This record gives sequence, C-alpha cells and structure tokens, in this order.
Amino acid sequence: MQRKRRILTGITTSGTPHLGNYVGAIRPAIAASRKDDAESFYFLADYHALIKCGDPARVQRSTLEIAASWLACGLDPDKVFFYRQSDIPEIPELTWLLTCVTAKGLLNRAHAYKAAVDANRNADDDPDAGVTAGLYMYPVLMAADILIFGANEVPVGRDQIQHIEMARDIGQRFNHLYGGEYFTLPEARIEENVATLPGTDGRKMSKSYDNTIPLWLPANELKKAILGIVTDSRAPGEAKDADTSNLFAIYQAFATPEETAAMREAFAAGIGWGDAKQKLFERVDAELAPMREKYEALIADPARIEALLHAGADKARERSRPLIDALRRAAGIRRLTDVAAPAKPVAAAVAALPQIKRYREKDGKFYFKLEAADGELLLQSRAFDAPQESGQVINALVDAGGDLVSRSALLDAAVDGNTTVSVEALAAALSALKAGKLAKEQGRH
Ligand code: TRP
Repeated sequence: MQRKRRILTGITTSGTPHLGNYVGAIRPAIAASRKDDAESFYFLADYHALIKCGDPARVQRSTLEIAASWLACGLDPDKVFFYRQSDIPEIPELTWLLTCVTAKGLLNRAHAYKAAVDANRNADDDPDAGVTAGLYMYPVLMAADILIFGANEVPVGRDQIQHIEMARDIGQRFNHLYGGEYFTLPEARIEENVATLPGTDGRKMSKSYDNTIPLWLPANELKKAILGIVTDSRAPGEAKDADTSNLFAIYQAFATPEETAAMREAFAAGIGWGDAKQKLFERVDAELAPMREKYEALIADPARIEALLHAGADKARERSRPLIDALRRAAGIRRLTDVAAPAKPVAAAVAALPQIKRYREKDGKFYFKLEAADGELLLQSRAFDAPQESGQVINALVDAGGDLVSRSALLDAAVDGNTTVSVEALAAALSALKAGKLAKEQGRH
C-alpha cells in the first residue's frame, strides 16, 4: 500500500495574523487539510521566532494568537498533525545530527544570511555585525522540521524555495553518508493561484511594510482600517479601473466570482470610493464574523489551547521518536551493547558510486553512458557534436539528482527519442552521484 503524501507547513510565531496571512496561507492550507489524499502537518515554529524576535512576551502571545487563529478558521486537530515545534525534542536533536553533515559553504550561500552580510558591507560595517549563529543555522533547523516527519511537499512562498532545496541537499547527504534511505526528500510547492493580498498602501500586505489589517479586529475597527485603504482621487461617478485597484483585489479575495463581476461593473459605472469601501467591509466581515467569535472564545482560554498542542505533540512524536532512534543509531550514538549493523563508512560509500563514462565513436560524435555501481548500463546517451554539449547535459543530470523523475526535459536532452530507461533506477544513481559531488565540495570548504 502506498502511504499518503505528507504536506508540512511551519508558521513562525513572531507576529499577529493579518488578512494577508489568512488569504495567502491559513485559508488555503485549511482547505487542503480537509482532503483525504494527504496527511497534513501544521506547526508553530517558535524556535524560528527566536531568530528574529528577542521579545519573550511577543513570542508567547504570537504562539497563542496563531494557534487560536488556525483553530478558529476551522483546522481540525483530530484530522491533522497540529503541534508546536518546541514540544518536539526530536527537532533540535535532529538539528544537531544534520548540522554535523551540513557543509558550511552551503549555509554561506543562504539568501537571508547573505543579505545581512551584504547590508553590513554596504554600511562599511563588520560583515558579521549583528548576525547571530541562529540566523546562520536557520536552514538546518528548517531542514530538521521537514525531514523529521518525512514531508513530501512543503507549500511555501518563493522566498523559501532555497530553504527547501537545502533541506533536500542536507537530507540526501545524511542518507549518503550513513548509507540508508533515512529521509524522504521534500519538494517545494509554490501556490500559483493563491492571491497575494495588497496592504492598505497597495504594496504586498506585510508586517515589514506596516500596511497590514489585523485579522481579528473588532468589526468597528475593521471598518476603520478598511476606510483607511489608499485610493486615487477619482470622484463618485467617474469610472474606476478594477485591475489596478488594491481595494478591488482585496474584495476579490473574499467574494464569489459573481460578486466580483458585479463589483467590476460597479467600478466601471463609477461607484464612489466610500461606497466601495463599505461593500468591502461588509464582504470581509461576513466571512470573518463567525470565526471571530470562535477566536475570541479560544484566545480567552489559553489552557485549552495548551492542552490541544500537547495532544498534537504526543501524536506527532509517535512519528518522530522512532525516526530519531534510527538516526542516532546510524550516526553511532547508541548503546555500547548495541550490535547494530555498522553504517557504511564514507569511503566505501564513495567507492561504490555509479559511473559516468564519456567517449567518442568512429562517427566522430561524443557520447556518454551511465553505469550503476555494479556495472549495469542505466543510460546510453544520444550523439553530441561537441564534448562541451555532452558535458553540460551530464552536469545538469547530476545536479538534478533524484529530482530527475519530475524533470523529463532533462532526460529528453540526454537520450534519443525512442530509448526507454528506468527513470527510477537512473534517479537513484544520479542522486548517489550528486551526494558524492556534494561530499567532495564539502571536503574543499
Ligand atoms: N521559515 C518559514 C517562514 O518564515 C517558517 C518555517 C519554519 C517553515 N520551519 C518550516 C515553513 C518548515 C515550512 C516548513 O515562513
């Protein structure tokens, strides 16, 4: 029987949920969690919060608010795994095991760390001024979050893609070093059709722009916030362009297609901004009001949420405990009386790598073939006119590694149209080659 896909999302507990979080993350995630074709993991990333927030009261309050928000919006904790990161001791434990196989050079390339260093350089400051090791290690902690539950998919915004790729690299490297399929390698899932909500000033709604509308404002304050949305100076009666209006974009994120079409007509017919804002308020409030009541009841009862999170952690740890046991043993953290099969030493694992052989035929063309460690032919390439061309294809294949399965164009570039290959065996071999390459790179750092 095939196991269900696992989808995992973490929410950093450093802020107060706003309408943008609701439309862009909470609402779609809860809709997805209702389907039966996948297992969903949602967690409050409070260890991540410590990286950017030094205010303990804020971290605690945010954890409560975010937990209450997800529950009020309909997350069913019996149907999903809903827990707090810091309640799962296997996560920091795994973080260390992964830290020890992570190339420092990989972390040097992380966008968030690089941006901090660049900002320091531009300010003529010490490159590492104000940079904590927490910021530097962020990708490893995130890899542990993902790998500990064997997530297949991680829905993220574009800014997080690099972190998922790093989680793959780190997991792959652990698998390779300790000679086992300990970790499932996750994929980033980019939500293309989820709206990015504009904020009150028209830029993307984001805490860092200070243009958010908090999700749980009382109705009268919600109305005030909506009245404060910036518009142009067109008077009532003048036609307005729906497609460039932030007000319209927010309306659309809450309305049915029919309501949206009607609002578009109203814009063309010159609805006044005051009226449009009133309609927007009514629409948003209609969706939020019933949940707001639940939210208020939940937030008033922290003990209930605390108990719920503990139950969630118990359930999640049924998965994380057996895995961490296996990982510790694999790495040699085990009882002295334990005679587990020794993990393959690194050198042996490298010696048993598949091989790529490049050669030239009498026809003057260039070819390569990929053989498994035992010599079995896995791929015979097509003819290339120049060695650089075949070299590029080889590099692309190795870089794709186990990803090959989802990247058929690469394979098309490597073989003749009617050749059949076992993509699975090929992907396994390439993933071993990639891990070998990463291991060598690590040796150089
Ligand atoms: N880094 C994520 C963010 O800032 C939050 C997060 C932490 C996360 N761990 C995760 C997201 C694991 C997905 C998977 O948005």
